[in-house]
Amino acid sequence: MKLAIGSDHAGHKLKAEVVKILKEMEIEIEDHGCNCEDSVDYPDYAAPVAESVAAGTVDKGILICGTGIGISISANKIKGIRCALCHDVFSAKASRAHNNSNILAMGERVVGPGHAGEIVKAWLDTEFEGGRHADRVEKMMAMEEK
Ligand code: RB5
Repeated sequence: MKLAIGSDHAGHKLKAEVVKILKEMEIEIEDHGCNCEDSVDYPDYAAPVAESVAAGTVDKGILICGTGIGISISANKIKGIRCALCHDVFSAKASRAHNNSNILAMGERVVGPGHAGEIVKAWLDTEFEGGRHADRVEKMMAMEEK
């Protein structure tokens, strides 16, 4: 399992916590920054993570900004990306089981590190259920062509 991870300045502290958890899980990480307090633009960090996931050079991605909103919207502009903004375990699991999400987004200003760790673990542990959900995901992805 290899993951790409990225954040803006408002998400880099939570990103560091998530990186710690992923390392404990012996997951290989491609860290696209940022690692500073200086104000940066979240699309610049969403793009390389989303592009790595879309290209298949990593299995999945995790993105963090202040709210998770800007960085998830940005990631979803990249073809092939299904980035889910989740601040609870139930949604994280459902985004994998039903929507086959390939990037998880969270907001550092919304969720604490302990809860974020539970969300990440639940998201990584949940497989896509396929079946009727596969038809819906296929329809959703076909919208990229419109
Ligand atoms: C940065 O101040 C903040 O706007 C950003 O991290 C994010 O919350 C945007 O959606």
